[in-house]
This record gives sequence, structure tokens and C-alpha cells, in this order.
Amino acid sequence: MKIDTAIRKGKIVSIDKNMIAVEFNFRLKQNETAYALLGEKRLKSEVIRIRGNIADLQVYEATDGLKTGDFVEFTGKLLSVDLGPGLLGQVFDGLQNPLQKLAEECGFFLKRGKYLNALPEDKKWGFLPSVKPGDFVQSGDVIGMVKEGIFTHKIQVPFNLSGSHKILSIVKPGEYNVKEEIAITENKRGMEIPLYMSFSWPIKIPITAYEEKLDPVEPMITRIRIIDSLFPVAKGGTYCIPGPFGSGKTILQQITSRNAKVDIVIIAACGERAGEVVEIIRKFPKIIDPFTDRPLMERTVIICNTSSMPIAAREASVYTAITIAEYYRQMGLDVLLLADSTSRWAQALRERSGRLEEIPGEEAYPAYLGSTIAGFYERAGLVRLKDNTTGSITIGGTVSPAGGNFEEPVTQATLKVTGAFHGLSKDRSDARRYPSIDPLESWSTYEGIIDIQRRKEVIKLLSKANEVSQMMKVVGEEGVSLNDYILYLKGELFDYVYLQQNAFDPVDSATSADRQKKVFSIFEKILDASLILEDKIKTKNFFNRLRQAFIDYNYSAWDSEKFTTSEKLIKDLILQHSKENYISKSNVLRQAFVESDMDSQFRRSKELLAGKKGKLTMQKEESAKNKP
Ligand SMILES: Nc1ncnc2c1ncn2[C@@H]1O[C@H](COP(=O)(O)OP(=O)(O)OP(=O)(O)O)[C@@H](O)[C@H]1O
Ligand SMILES: [Mg+2]
Repeated sequence: MKIDTAIRKGKIVSIDKNMIAVEFNFRLKQNETAYALLGEKRLKSEVIRIRGNIADLQVYEATDGLKTGDFVEFTGKLLSVDLGPGLLGQVFDGLQNPLQKLAEECGFFLKRGKYLNALPEDKKWGFLPSVKPGDFVQSGDVIGMVKEGIFTHKIQVPFNLSGSHKILSIVKPGEYNVKEEIAITENKRGMEIPLYMSFSWPIKIPITAYEEKLDPVEPMITRIRIIDSLFPVAKGGTYCIPGPFGSGKTILQQITSRNAKVDIVIIAACGERAGEVVEIIRKFPKIIDPFTDRPLMERTVIICNTSSMPIAAREASVYTAITIAEYYRQMGLDVLLLADSTSRWAQALRERSGRLEEIPGEEAYPAYLGSTIAGFYERAGLVRLKDNTTGSITIGGTVSPAGGNFEEPVTQATLKVTGAFHGLSKDRSDARRYPSIDPLESWSTYEGIIDIQRRKEVIKLLSKANEVSQMMKVVGEEGVSLNDYILYLKGELFDYVYLQQNAFDPVDSATSADRQKKVFSIFEKILDASLILEDKIKTKNFFNRLRQAFIDYNYSAWDSEKFTTSEKLIKDLILQHSKENYISKSNVLRQAFVESDMDSQFRRSKELLAGKKGKLTMQKEESAKNKP
């Protein structure tokens, strides 16, 4: 077969859905992008395996109409994304096509082979240079700034420039777009290189233009109580959220995206439902950011697959998302990447591996599933940058195990590499106990706002309360001791008013770290207290009153009058029934006990006396009768 090597073209030799095998006779790179030519259309593809002179490519579009013998044009470039000002606020597909703009141009039915520039090219940004001719710079060094929404966007030397570069010229402060030349540098070999405000970077290669990775220590506050207080996530850490179908994974991530104390949120939606994607695009821009009072979208980037794209694009979305996250981390910002759901991505890997006829691992997932997942989560982290500031990426990924079985390969591979595990349970979501994170299944290795030892004790109490609850299902309420019953109600109360949170209430939906610490300290008193409650009815009444007081407390604004009064009511209630209080009042109480005891002794001896009297009378009467 004759192939024109000059323009790097190959010919399709076989097609299997969105996998094509292409014959070529020139040097080819793994992960190089190519375009399958279908008439006027160019279908984006990526080289995923090379064997001899045959390359296997996955096509990121439907391949209908392609036939063997059709040409494929190779680009020589790895699958990359454009980085620069203008990413924030956008909704991209996995290949970084701006969906809002595509919809404007093509309407609702996106055309195959239509690709648009990711960054707005006509928009002018106010650029302020921070280096001057003669300065030496390296990859990742900042050469100027622009204002992007509420952030100072640092324009950096492209990460692929190696060695030291001398600035030959740089533009004056002014308005420039991303395609205008802003500086010229010279490398050691005297080669001149023009710099722009944007450059591209291959998505499968981590950006490492920083000094070092640090251990994540500071908690990333989500303002979700069960997470921050019991199963915290560190800034720069990783966590996984496995949950069966419909258990609340997506909603939990949406709540997190609104409330987490980070600079930038990147959402990678690899869910298969097109409706969900449309909903995100419609709903998200309307959400107001609780921290800035401006549209939340201004500090958000959404990457999602459209239903017209084959599942192969899910893989690209995950990598596109993390690359954009790394780019903003380089600016010293805290980025949260939420991926929903990573199982769909794993399924794409499985399908591709099947087509490549690779040796399958567990449940037909490829044997490299674990290392692929690990490679993704390893791109999270807290880093010290070249200017000594720090930036972080925290990754939270949902997993949707079939039937909620956490033993399956994707959940297992994920929990091995993440620092926290928020297992959602169907029982909890069915009972509408939201967020449905199961406190008995979840764990975290990170330090949070509550002492680790304390966290363990609370989880132990919840576990014991759960045991009593299971027992009560068999033997009924009357079958358990009063002490066990109190333990059970303590657990239920903590679950109901602390672990559960109403996502729709403006106050309860987000609890600050300080407020959590305060409420938790009150709870500690309840959980630790030896309560003096005489019977189960009184116990139930007491916990009902406490529960109502806590609901009022949770729903009232921090330090409002109602907040103060309900807090006082809670404290009074605990005091009235706790043993400590009983001891302080012990003199009075002991007296009362002694008196009542004396009363009963007196009564008993009277009865005894009466009994004796009675007997005596009878004896007397009898003897009188017997007398002649
Ligand atoms: N915090 C919450 N408060 C109230 N309702 C909730 C909450 N979380 C979930 N729900 C309810 O549960 C439904 C399913 O939630 P969600 O779509 O997040 O589940 P999922 O686990 O992402 O499902 P899937 O596996 O299909 O992706 C929601 O439509 C909503 O009715
Ligand atoms: Mg979902």
C-alpha cells in the first residue's frame, strides 16, 4: 500500500465501532492525535496502541460512514488542551469543545467533526507584564498577570519549554488576546521562541512545574457536617464516594461544589444520562456562590460528555479536567475536582480493552485498571510552587458499583489510593437520611476539625447504637435495657440532627467549621452524659424535646436570638437530666429518698403491726370461743 509519508497519512484497515486500525509507515507516537477523514468531516481520534506498522486508534465520534481504505491524518501532537485565560465559566466536552458556543453555532444537534477553539480568541485581556528584557525564565515562571473574574490569572512560561530562557522582548501593559504575541524568549542555543497568553499541554502528562509535593494537612472545609466532622478531606487530598444507583452521589457533589472552601471547582461529569448534562448546563449558571455572591459559574469549569459522543470521550473528560485543574494549581489556587462517575470511565476502559483483545482482569476490566485509577488520583496534591506559594488539587470521585457492592474492582482500586472513603448507602437514602454517607462504612485518614480520637469514639457509639437498633427489630423496644435504649436514642439523635443535613434550607445546608466545632462540643456532652431517666417513656420524651430544640438550633442563623435561646434550651435539658447535676443536688435528693424510704418503712411496720394485731385478735377471739 502506498502511503504519503510527507503529510503523515495512514489508511484504515479495519473498523470496530469507535476503534479503527490504521496502517502507516512513519514514526508514530503513543497517544498522538489523528483525524479520520470522512468526506469533508474530520473525526478526532487518538492512537492507543502501536503494533508494527498498524496503529489502533479510538475515534471520539460515531464512525458511521467510515470504511476501510479511508485516510487518517496524523497530527504529530499528543491529545492536548489549550490553557490560558477564559477557561473559567465554560462548559466543555471531553475534547475541550466549548459546548455553549457549539450550541450557538449548531443548535441542539451537535455536528460530527465540528471542533471549536476552547478559549475565546477575540476577547482582550488587560495584561500586566512582570518580567523585563534580559530576565531569565523557566517553564512555569510567571511573566505577567491578567484579571480573570475574581482571580489574578498568572501567565506562565509554557510547561514544555526546557532549560533557561532569556526574555528578549515583552509587550507593554495593555489589552491583548490569547493569540497575540506577548513576549519573545531565546533559549541556550540562540533559538527565538514567541510566547502567547495561551499554550497547549497533553492531557495524559501531569504538569509538574512546581518545586515539590507536600503532605496535605489542612482540612478542605465542605460545610457538610458528616464530612468535616467525621470523615474529613484534606486540601490536596483525595476521596472516593461509592454509592448504588440513585443513592445521592450527584446531588452530594453538587452540594460540595457550592459549599467547599476552595477557589476553583472543576466538574467532570462522565454520567451517561444526557438529561443530567442538559440540566447542569441550564441550572449551574443560575446558582449564586455563597462566598462571593456572584454566579458560581465564574469560578467553575464543567467538563461533560454529550450524548452524541461515544463513551471513549469519558476518558478524555477525566484527563481534560485534571489538566485544567493542574493549570490553576500552578497559580497558587486551591482547586477541587469532582468526577462523577468514575465507573463510567472505567467501563469505557473495559470496552476498549475488550476491543483490543487484551487479557482481561477481574470482571473483564483491564489488568491495568488499578494503575490507571491510581495515576489519575496521584495528580491531586498540595504543591510548593517556584515562588514559594502553595496550590492544591483535591479530587473527589464517585463510583457507581452495581448493586451497591463495594467489593467490585473499581471501588476497590479507588479506595486503595484515596485518603477518605464516603460510602453512600441505599438504606439511608431510602430512609431519606441525606447526605446518605454511611457513618459505619466510611473512613478518613486525614486530620479534620475534630480530634481523631474523638471521631473514633463517636463512630463507636454510633456502631453500638446500631447494634441496639438491630436487636430492637427482633425483640422490640421492651426487650432491651433502659441503658441500651438511651444509647440507641443518643445515636439516633446525633444522626438526625448532626449527620443529616437539609440541602434545601439556607442555614442548615451549609455549616461553617466554627459552628460545627461548637455544636459538636455540645453533642459531646450529650453523648458522654450519664442520663438520669426513669423509664423508656420519659427517655423518649426527653430525646424528642432535645431533637426539636436541635432542629430549631440548626435552622437558625449563627448567633441570632433564636440560635442563643435554642442553645440554652438544649443545655438546660441536658443539665436537668444528667448525673452530674443529680450529684450537685444530691443533698436535697438524698433527703427526699430517705424520707420516702422512711415513709415506706413506717408503712410496712404499720402493716406488719396491723397484721400482728389482726392475728392477735383472732387468737383472742378463738381462745374466748374455746373457753367454757
Ligand atoms: N441531599 C439530598 N437531599 C434531598 N434529596 C436528595 C439528596 N440527595 C439525593 N436526593 C434524592 O435522590 C435522588 C437521586 O440522587 P442522585 O441523582 O444524586 O443519585 P445518584 O447516586 O447520583 O444516582 P445515579 O447512580 O443514577 O447517578 C435525587 O433526585 C433526589 O430526589
Ligand atoms: Mg448520579
